[in-house]
Amino acid sequence: MFNLDGVRDHYRATGLTERLKAALAVFGPEDSLLTTQQLGALDQFHTRGLAATAELAELAGVTGDMSVLDAGSGVGGPARFLAATYGCSVTGVDLSEAFVDAAQYLTMRTGQADQATFETGDVLNLRFDEGRFDAVLLQHVAMNIPDRPRLYREMRRVLKRGGRFATYDIVSNAGEPNYPLPWARTPATSFLLTAEATREAIEPAGFRTLVWRDDTEAAKAWFAQRRASGPPPSPNLGVVMGPDFAQLAANLGRSLLERRLGVVSAVFEAL
Ligand SMILES: C[S@@+](CC[C@H](N)C(=O)[O-])C[C@H]1O[C@@H](n2cnc3c(N)ncnc32)[C@H](O)[C@@H]1O
Repeated sequence: MFNLDGVRDHYRATGLTERLKAALAVFGPEDSLLTTQQLGALDQFHTRGLAATAELAELAGVTGDMSVLDAGSGVGGPARFLAATYGCSVTGVDLSEAFVDAAQYLTMRTGQADQATFETGDVLNLRFDEGRFDAVLLQHVAMNIPDRPRLYREMRRVLKRGGRFATYDIVSNAGEPNYPLPWARTPATSFLLTAEATREAIEPAGFRTLVWRDDTEAAKAWFAQRRASGPPPSPNLGVVMGPDFAQLAANLGRSLLERRLGVVSAVFEAL
């Protein structure tokens, strides 16, 4: 039976908050407020970074009066972006204690602690009551989760009827991807589905498709631009995931280019 330890190990990030404190000194003293843009290269842990989060939120129709769940919230960049842009309240849940600690620290540094909160938890087994949220975001998380029907049922359970489920994920295409990858160093913690199988797992959980968009070409263009423009600005996700992160990201770029993987953005209505 699958256990979460392998995935947890991948995102263990020992000493992360201390590393972030040191890296963020380039932006000024601890008591100066940081912006979403300053953090964008290190706190948006998915293909196409901040632009992808902004597009997904737009597609999902997020508004200021919503209560939003960011499932698998990483170090909290998407949650902070939503809170800053729309004024909504966001709850982030993540498996990695180090990531949750870092998310809380970064949110204190952006002055958003009242609007965006973070806690440790498993998105397959959330502590929230049924119908607690108006919208749920799931960005680059499902590929770490083998039991997709259960994942999508849990996303549906915590959503109000008529609420929005917005997902942005990597899908399998032709052949094995090139490991190590940003979410898994080996196939043991990678659980990819094709685009078609992903949709077939989501709809029966109680969802109607509103938007289904193949973002593979946009993702390939983003990686091509990164390759052309040299090393990413500092500090970046290397601080979070370690010095080999550039190689993991390059392997994802290559897997997309070779059509082994694809990227999909989708929004569903909870029925
Ligand atoms: C690639 S990161 C994406 C983080 C964030 N969604 C973002 O886009 O910036 C994947 C995240 O999913 C989290 N994760 C994986 N499996 C999880 C689970 N079962 N429950 C909660 N979080 C999980 C990891 O800890 C990690 O933070």
